Amino acid sequence: MSSSNYPVDMTVKPDVKAFFDPATNTISYVVKDPASNSCAVVDSVMDIDYAAGRITYDHADAIIAHVRDKGLEVEWLIETHVHADHLSAAPYIQQKLGGKLGIGDKITVVQDTFGKVFNEGTEFQRDGSQFDRLFKDGDTYQVGGMTAFAMYTPGHTPACMVHVIGNAAFVGDTLFMPDGGSARADFPGGDAATLYDSIQKVLALPDEMRLFMCHDYGPNGRDIAWETTVGAEKEHNIHVGGGKTKEDFVKFRTERDAQLDMPKLIIPSLQVNMRGGKMPPADENGKTFLKVPVNTL
Ligand SMILES: [Fe+2]
Repeated sequence: MSSSNYPVDMTVKPDVKAFFDPATNTISYVVKDPASNSCAVVDSVMDIDYAAGRITYDHADAIIAHVRDKGLEVEWLIETHVHADHLSAAPYIQQKLGGKLGIGDKITVVQDTFGKVFNEGTEFQRDGSQFDRLFKDGDTYQVGGMTAFAMYTPGHTPACMVHVIGNAAFVGDTLFMPDGGSARADFPGGDAATLYDSIQKVLALPDEMRLFMCHDYGPNGRDIAWETTVGAEKEHNIHVGGGKTKEDFVKFRTERDAQLDMPKLIIPSLQVNMRGGKMPPADENGKTFLKVPVNTL
């Protein structure tokens, strides 16, 4: 779909509450309909001490406490994509608060790729059935009285979607803050030219559209930040702003990605997130294990 065909409504102005996770530099959001108690939770985080193999829920519990304090009703748990740098807490939050779990329908491509990487057996379904809803480009859904839509934005991964709710867009890893640029495009199924095209779709939204980042690393010592606008990204984004061409971007992105280390949590993150945030099934003794594929990633 081209940007002009999406059902943008800038008159709808959701209340957006951010939860920053310092361990993974991820920002999760509770997005509330101002006209009701309905909300959506975007890109939650489950805590892991990978060295110890220990899972905890401090970050998710803070979101749950906020939802309960304010008397909100969770209608949706949205994953912008299969994250490679943190584990999703969506099933944990869903168990406590309800709501439907949604991701882009190309999750099946990611499941197929990483099902092979992790040598999963046939019990690992590659059909997206771990989720309640698989969004296609342009699909709409309701958060209370607000109509939200999903915009297909591949490039960082094949299943990335930007979710737009009124005048707020949750960009996942398509864009970082203007001084942070863009996310890498070298994971399996990623592609720098495709990412550039997806970013242009985001930048074709109205200039006043609020953009909410999934990550921020506070480049050059600035404080962590997560909110900007389409207008500011168009003008100032160091990778795509100020009229940089697709050729410039692809060359820069490809050279930069070749120098990046794998994210610290990529191995546990992919195994859990490709299952919608659930651990692999326990063994016959009730114990749960994650794998480390050697010399594969
Ligand atoms: Fe990501």
